[in-house]
Amino acid sequence: MKALKLAPLALGVVVATSMSVGLAQGLSVHLERSVVGPGPDYWPNREKAIPHVSGDEAFSNTYQYWKDAEAIAAARQEGRMSHEMNFKDFRWLERSMEGEELAERGSELFHRKNQNGQSCASCHGDNGEKISDAQSRFPAFNKRLGRVVTMPTQIGSCASERLGENWVEDTKENSLIGMYVATLADGVPVNIDVSGGEMKASYERGRDLFFKRTGHFNFACASCHTPPTSGSYLRIQRPTTFFGDAAQYPVYHFPYSLPGDDLEYIFTLQHQIKSCQILSRMYPGVEGSEPMTDIEVFLQASSNGFPISAPVNFYNLDAGYME
Ligand code: HEC
Ligand code: HEC
Repeated sequence: MKALKLAPLALGVVVATSMSVGLAQGLSVHLERSVVGPGPDYWPNREKAIPHVSGDEAFSNTYQYWKDAEAIAAARQEGRMSHEMNFKDFRWLERSMEGEELAERGSELFHRKNQNGQSCASCHGDNGEKISDAQSRFPAFNKRLGRVVTMPTQIGSCASERLGENWVEDTKENSLIGMYVATLADGVPVNIDVSGGEMKASYERGRDLFFKRTGHFNFACASCHTPPTSGSYLRIQRPTTFFGDAAQYPVYHFPYSLPGDDLEYIFTLQHQIKSCQILSRMYPGVEGSEPMTDIEVFLQASSNGFPISAPVNFYNLDAGYME
């Protein structure tokens, strides 16, 4: 029994030693802790999470440097390097030309008429004006469907039930339309209400999934997305804390895609979650499923109060203050 339990931890140590020194130290503290006792199921500090972007203060103490454009500019002026800012400053203020092109293609689909002459625009306005802030309120509880849905699920449901189009989650059409719908809400602060009911329950389940150890390496999402791992280099990548990130999704993620993808390099937040599950050897979830939706509710609510930034690139070429 004991040997079985330790096997994934041993793997974790191997992985940790191949990472940067600071990271390896951070991870090994937690690994040692779990080898000594029966092993916590959860990564520490789950109870500190709150559904607002300022909750980052309880984790990384970097919020002051990236909470808005002025803060980022001031931090750079002081000569602060990007890793001291939790890498939160790369993409948000940089518009993506490629992303705009994709949103335009999404707009074409939004206006494409079916055999009955109906399109998304027939119900939601020629410029999408009736859903212009929808991105800031999703995921949300959908009364008709009786469950919490992400934006891709809402788009897929409207498409199939109202237009007869098979544009479900994780398809090119869904992702392109999602890019367009997000762009409508550019600059609108994220505002997910998780104060009660199904949304609160979903937020709490999502938070618990985020902090729960699982997979071959026995990592939690939080193993990489809280300090000391966040704000460090993980090989050549830079995991960030989980606050604020969701406000820039969906993103143009060129040149990376998941095996078998045909989504024009668009990463919806669901897709990003799945990507991380694959990279950290967890069981990849089904996009739009309840657990995946719960994780998204947790991440979006952790961006509450932060303005949406769309469309942006995942990679920003402004490397002037990286080290
Ligand atoms: C025949 C009318 C109709 C068509 C066509 C339609 N929808 Fe909807 N849509 C609705 C209704 C009604 C709702 C309210 C929620 C529900 O019933 O799911 C809704 C909800 C939404 C929402 C959430 C709005 C909010 O403020 O919460 C979005 C986003 C959306 N639809 C996108 C789309 C997209 C994208 C398409 C095209 C693929 C589309 N819809 C096609 C009727 C329509
Ligand atoms: C082994 C470390 C690791 C684990 C475990 C991990 N991630 Fe990641 N994650 C990364 C790296 C590296 C990136 C890319 C750098 C970045 O932007 O944060 C990333 C990116 C992300 C992003 C985009 C952040 C941004 O700035 O746009 C989200 C959201 C995310 N991960 C969520 C998750 C979720 C949810 C889980 C658990 C299912 C998870 N991650 C598990 C390493 C990890």
